[in-house]
Amino acid sequence: MMACDPRGIIGKSGKLPWVYPEELRYFRQTTYAHVVIMGHKTFKSVSDSFLKDRFNIVFSTTCRRYVDSGVVFVSSLDEFLNISDLPDNKKYFMIGGAMIADLFLKQNLIQDFLLTEIKKNYEGDTVFPLHKLREWPYTTLQEVPDFKIKHYLNPHSLRKEI
Ligand SMILES: NC(=O)c1ccc[n+]([C@@H]2O[C@H](COP(=O)([O-])OP(=O)(O)OC[C@H]3O[C@@H](n4cnc5c(N)ncnc54)[C@H](OP(=O)(O)O)[C@@H]3O)[C@@H](O)[C@H]2O)c1
Repeated sequence: MMACDPRGIIGKSGKLPWVYPEELRYFRQTTYAHVVIMGHKTFKSVSDSFLKDRFNIVFSTTCRRYVDSGVVFVSSLDEFLNISDLPDNKKYFMIGGAMIADLFLKQNLIQDFLLTEIKKNYEGDTVFPLHKLREWPYTTLQEVPDFKIKHYLNPHSLRKEI
């Protein structure tokens, strides 16, 4: 689940390039109390209140510790795939950034993708690999003047629809 501009820009100087409170609210509501999977840089960019209300899995080769519970660090994909004590009855959202999205898409670990397409172009330094979704069918869930939310389905998913 991510948001990008028409060229795939997702970040600038470690943050989001834009402020769209309505989109942020949608992101928070959708992931609330579920499991979110992210890269270390994204972890550093989100607020403590965001982390507190979710079960967080953070990819990092340099960081292993976090004072609060509810955050698990993994140093490789293998370690992630072998986590044994994950919460039951939760949805799992890969929330970026670009490095982790790329990793998960390459390994075909994503069954479906909620992508917010921001309509305006932004300057940025981090880009989502939009071309990887090119063959995925999608439905538009919501459209407002500033953005459109699309639900993409992975045609090559190894898992069944949940
Ligand atoms: N628009 C959106 O939807 C959205 C979503 C998320 C983030 N963002 C933005 O995107 C930017 C961050 O994205 P990013 O691509 O630069 O970074 P990122 O994916 O959030 O994090 C990259 C870090 O993850 C760790 N990592 C990556 N691959 C790994 C692997 N295979 N095994 C273990 N650890 C691994 C490394 O941390 P270590 O260096 O600690 O090893 C790496 O430096 C920020 O500007 C953020 O605000 C935007």
